[in-house]
Amino acid sequence: MILVFGEIFMCHSKISTTWIDLNSQLDRLILDDSLSFIESDIINRVIIGGFEKNTKVCKNEVKLLLNNFSIIDSQSVIEIGGGYGNFCRIFQENIPTKEYTIVDTNNMLRLSRYFLDTKKVKCNFVDTNKIESIFGKKFSLFVSNICLSEIPEEHRVFILDNILPNCGAFFIIDANKFLVGGGEEFSKHLMSILEKYFFVRTIECSNICFQKNHDLYIGTKNDRF
Ligand SMILES: C[S@@+](CC[C@H](N)C(=O)[O-])C[C@H]1O[C@@H](n2cnc3c(N)ncnc32)[C@H](O)[C@@H]1O
Repeated sequence: MILVFGEIFMCHSKISTTWIDLNSQLDRLILDDSLSFIESDIINRVIIGGFEKNTKVCKNEVKLLLNNFSIIDSQSVIEIGGGYGNFCRIFQENIPTKEYTIVDTNNMLRLSRYFLDTKKVKCNFVDTNKIESIFGKKFSLFVSNICLSEIPEEHRVFILDNILPNCGAFFIIDANKFLVGGGEEFSKHLMSILEKYFFVRTIECSNICFQKNHDLYIGTKNDRF
């Protein structure tokens, strides 16, 4: 809580201490035409890969998305925690999209801006610290892969409760109840938010995203999907 000129402003921590530490390492990466940063140790720690394996994972995830929605409205997509942007690239190569927006930390957005610009993929970028700027905007599809469980709970709820009501459908890959160290609490809490706005289904997808004990959480505003 902050007191400014007699007014009280509530604020919450938006980035976890783990990511604050990782971000200072991301800031040191040098960006060059060869995109060599993708094969760096720090990127290998935070994003499944290198590039070849990561591309395979992203292709699997897009296939999973196509197989599980009978109709996909992909006019305007919002992705929370897009990493360096490889999913955004593969998504737009396979699914016609008018507008794609990535929300992430400024530190990661420096990398995704560079990567997507180099690959000539169109995207809007929003700093998670300024996410209020897109509250009220309509999106046809909400996407988030292995990120929500890494955002402090209060900020996660702030994002979900302000963005999901304006989305037509969602596709989330994240921890399930079997993930040791908080998976049970996270997945129960996530479901309680998702079910306020959508019909929800979950599908075990560890072999597709190459992460143990992860589920696909998927939903639309009607139950025919
Ligand atoms: C494990 S990586 C996953 C990246 C990518 N979605 C993938 O599947 O490879 C987690 C992502 O969440 C992002 N992230 C961490 N804290 C965040 C926050 N508070 N708001 C938005 N994104 C955040 C990280 O910068 C990173 O891009």
